[in-house]
Amino acid sequence: MKKGWRIISLMLVMVLFASMLAACTSGAGEVNVGIVLPTKDEPRWVQDEQRFKDALADSKYTTEILFSQGSSAKEKENVETLINKGIDVLIICPHDGDAAAAAVEAAKKEGITVISYDRLITNTDAVDYYVTFDSVAVGAAQGQYLIDNANGSNVPLYLYAGAASDNNAFLFFEGAWKVLQPKIADGTFKIANSSEAEALKDTADLTRDQMSKILGQVTTNWDPNEAKNKAQTHLTAASNDLKGEVVILAPNDGTARAIADVFATDGDITSYTVTGQDAEKASIQYVIDGKQSMTVFKDVRTLVTDAMGMAVTILDGGTPETTGSYNNGVVDVNAKQTDVIVVNQENVKAELIDSGYYEAGEFTGL
Ligand code: GAL
Repeated sequence: MKKGWRIISLMLVMVLFASMLAACTSGAGEVNVGIVLPTKDEPRWVQDEQRFKDALADSKYTTEILFSQGSSAKEKENVETLINKGIDVLIICPHDGDAAAAAVEAAKKEGITVISYDRLITNTDAVDYYVTFDSVAVGAAQGQYLIDNANGSNVPLYLYAGAASDNNAFLFFEGAWKVLQPKIADGTFKIANSSEAEALKDTADLTRDQMSKILGQVTTNWDPNEAKNKAQTHLTAASNDLKGEVVILAPNDGTARAIADVFATDGDITSYTVTGQDAEKASIQYVIDGKQSMTVFKDVRTLVTDAMGMAVTILDGGTPETTGSYNNGVVDVNAKQTDVIVVNQENVKAELIDSGYYEAGEFTGL
C-alpha cells in the first residue's frame, strides 16, 4: 500500500513537471508564431510549407501554418484564428498585398509583430519587417537570359507577368524591363503581344501606373491555365514575322511550362527561349529535357531561416537584423534580402542536386 502511494506521488510530480515544462516551452499562448501562406495551388508555397516544417522540427517555440487558398477573406480568418491562439509573431505571405492590410492591422492591434514574407503587404503601417529575395534581380536575370540567348535583330519578344495584386509582379517586371527596354529600343527585340508595352518602348523607367497598363494585357494571374489561354490567343493573332525564333518572358515556372507547351506545338515557331522562376520540381525536369530554358532558383531554406530567425529574436526580446528597406506606399519596411541563382541545363545538377535541395532520384535524364 505504502509503495503504491509512493509510485502515485512520484507520477504526480512527473506530470506536474511535464506540464510546467510544456508551459515554459509554449510561452503564454497556445502558439508562439503564426504562419500564413497564400495557396497550396502554386507549388512554390508547398515548397515553403515543407521547408518551414523541416526548420521547425527542433524549435523551442510552437508554430502553426495556415493556407489562405487565394482568398483574402480566408486569409483574414486565418490571422484571426492565430490571434486567438495567442501568437506573438505573425509571418505572412499575402495573397493580395493591399487587401492583407486589414488582417495585419488586426494583429498589430493585439501587439503582435508582423513579418511580411516574400511578398510585401502594401499601403499600411502595420508591417514591422520584410524577408524577401531580391525580386528586381529575378526579373533582371530573366531579361538578361533572353538577351544572351537571342540571335540577330527583330527577334519577337512575348511578355508575360504575374498577378497585379502581388507587389512582386511589379518588381519582377521592373527588373526585366530595365534590361530589355534598351534592346527593344535598339531593334534587337520586337514586342509581339502588348500594344501598351509597344507604346512605352522608349521609356526606360516605368511608373507603377505604366506597368499596370502592361500587366493589364499580359498578366497570367500566376495561373498556368490563364497563361496557356493567353499564349494560344497571342499565337493565333501573330503574323509570320512574329514567329520563327522567339523569346518569351514568363514570370514563374508554372506559367513557363504552360506557355512553353503552347509554343512547342506551333509549327511556325522554330525555336523558343523561355524564362521561369522558383525551381519547381516539374520545371527542373523541363530544364533537363530542354523544354524550359532557365529558372531562377530562390533557396526557400534561406528565406525560412531568416523569417524564423527574426521571429525567435523577437520572442527572445531582441531586435532582428535587416539589410535595407522597402517602401510599401506608407512606410519604409526594414527588410532582409536574399540573392537568387540562375539555373539552366549547364548548372542544374550542381545547384539543385549537389547542393542537397532536391534528390537526383526525383528526376530522369540528369
Ligand atoms: C511570387 C513569388 C514567386 C512566385 C509567385 C507565384 O510572389 O515571389 O516565387 O511563385 O508569387 O506564386
